[in-house]
Amino acid sequence: MVQLWYMDSSSEDQRLQHHRTPQQFADLDQIKKETGVLYWKIDPNSEDGEAALAKLKSDRGYNYEDVMEVSKNTLQNYEEKIKSFFKEHIHTDEEIRYIVDGSGYFDVRDASDRWVRIQMGPGDLVVLPAGIYHRFALDTNNYIKAKRFFVGEPVWTPHNRPVDDMEARKDYVQKQKNKKLTEE
Ligand code: LAC
Ligand code: NI
Repeated sequence: MVQLWYMDSSSEDQRLQHHRTPQQFADLDQIKKETGVLYWKIDPNSEDGEAALAKLKSDRGYNYEDVMEVSKNTLQNYEEKIKSFFKEHIHTDEEIRYIVDGSGYFDVRDASDRWVRIQMGPGDLVVLPAGIYHRFALDTNNYIKAKRFFVGEPVWTPHNRPVDDMEARKDYVQKQKNKKLTEE
């Protein structure tokens, strides 16, 4: 199972786990519910996995796809990119990442603005909704290979926090609020 945990507040190397003491794991269903994050496990090395991925892409309209290999030797401006990935930001569209090799951390803010670290490895597919504050870090293996999906022409632009007045952010906050009301 994919593991998620609430992070400590230390500013040590972002590639470390940053567990709290004692460790405090988060519940995937709870995080999905309160943040709008989506998650699937899809085997990258099986026909069933291929079929599941094809169905997901078609269901959600993901008609753009590329592959990103994050490592010193495969990513131009590596140091700079790593730094910008780890700055807390939003996008105006979903961020969809399907890990096919290596590993890394997607950190998202929960409903109480706490950092939740999602440990991602091969077969993990995550959709971060437009407007959610998040960031990405490699782990100490310093390598991840991910497929990126998008609806239409991709826009990867990060908007660094604070951007609370941006439409995408306001829409996201409103959507989570409405969802909470209908659940109560
Ligand atoms: C991105 C990840 C790093 O924006 O959040 O590509
Ligand atoms: Ni991002």
